[in-house]
Parts: sequence; C-alpha cells; structure tokens
Amino acid sequence: MIIANWKSNIVDMNQWTHDFDDEYIVNERLQSTIFGVAPPSLYIETMHLMRALNIPGHSALQEVLTGVQDVDHSYGSRTGAISVDMVIDTGCNFAIIGHSERRDLFNEDNDLIKEKLKSLKNKVMAVLCIGETKEENDKGITKDVLKQQLDIVKGLELDQSFTVAYEPVWAIGSGLTPESKDINEIHKYIKDVVQSNSANSLIPKVLYGGSVTDKNAESFFKEEFVDGALVGGASLDGSTFAKIVNIFNSTKKI
Ligand code: PGA
Repeated sequence: MIIANWKSNIVDMNQWTHDFDDEYIVNERLQSTIFGVAPPSLYIETMHLMRALNIPGHSALQEVLTGVQDVDHSYGSRTGAISVDMVIDTGCNFAIIGHSERRDLFNEDNDLIKEKLKSLKNKVMAVLCIGETKEENDKGITKDVLKQQLDIVKGLELDQSFTVAYEPVWAIGSGLTPESKDINEIHKYIKDVVQSNSANSLIPKVLYGGSVTDKNAESFFKEEFVDGALVGGASLDGSTFAKIVNIFNSTKKI
C-alpha cells in the first residue's frame, strides 16, 4: 500500500495524473496493491470528477483511491471541520489521522486521536501516524514513545483495514531516514503492540513514512515488515510517485 500525502500544497492535477499515467506500470502480479492520494480536501471532488471523465492518458486514475489528510471526530456545528460522514459521502476511501504535523501544529493529543479512530471504525480505512522526535530517538526511547502513541488502540475492535504509518518526526521532509533494518525492527514491534492491545488481536499493516523517494524506496520495501509507504514531498510529482508504486510492485513478495 502506497499513500501520497499532498499536505497543503497546490498540485496541477491534470499534469500530475498525466505524469503518473506515463510512468505507472500496470501490475498483473500484485493486482491487489492499493495506492491512494490524500489531496487537500478542497481538491478531492476535482480528482473524482477527473476520474469520472476517464480522460485518455489519465487511465491510472481509475485505480487511485482518495482519502483525507485528517478528519474530525464529530459533526454538525463545527465550522471548518470535516466529518466522517462527509468523507464517506464524497466517496473517499481512507483517512490519515495523528500525523505529527497535526499533533505538533494543531496540538492534537492521544485522547483526540483516539476519538477520531473510534469515529472512523468500520466505515473508512484509518491510517494512524505515529513516530518519535529526534530528541526521543537520541535518548533511545523510540519504542516507549510509540507504545504510548499506540495506547489508543487498547480495547478497540479494529477493522482489517486499520493501518499504522511509522513516521519518525525527524525524517519527515528532512532527507534523513533510519536504516532499513531499524525500520523493519520497529515495524515488527508496532505489529506486536497492536496485536496485543487491540480487542481482536489484529496484526496491522505498517507503512513507513519520512523522506521516501524513488531512490531509497526499494531498500525499505525489501524489508519483511514494511507493508508500504506514506509519501509526502516525493508524491507531489506524478512521475516520481508512480515510480515508487512500481518499485513496490516489483519488490514486494505476494
Ligand atoms: P515526506 O513526508 O515524505 O515529505 O518526508 C511524509 C509525511 O509527512 O507523511
């Protein structure tokens, strides 16, 4: 599973889909590979419209899932917020929650993120982001931090689609990444923690996020417990994002 997070960037969608289509190699072997885009919410309908028009040269759009970069845990009189029902109504397939930029810039805490997770449950696929800061990494407390962030799944019955994105805060947008083998170890740890904490012992898919590019993606995808990637900066270019999807398709064993 490869997910693009466009954050608050304006992307020329016509150009993006054209570039994606040019590069993307349809994969017969791994037909079930999921790849999706979380554009700024204002542009989701445009993406859906382009898909409906089925423009020649944009055929890969038919396969792209769409999602939101965040969601509100409630609905109604909450100016500016996007509710889960609105996400469903617009035909979106997934919602990213708990991104470190939401935690940091918008002061979102674990309690709120748990409410979001509960409101998504069984309706829209949740991509829960977790990750440690540079300081926490230096102190050697990465696993403690992740465990605490994963506390929110305690006692919850999780849908099969529930997905975690491991995104070290220090790797996001920095060009730095952990070693692939360290990412693999952390992903195994995340799977174990969710399995032992969730009510139905779910083993989640775990994506890696933080400075993923078409140059380093293969080294991550080769690792056993890396189930895909959440891609920020490199996803703004349709061709680069398609290359990352292609690398995933050719690297991952079924
Ligand atoms: P990046 O962002 O790929 O630009 O590092 C990843 C993310 O924030 O999800």
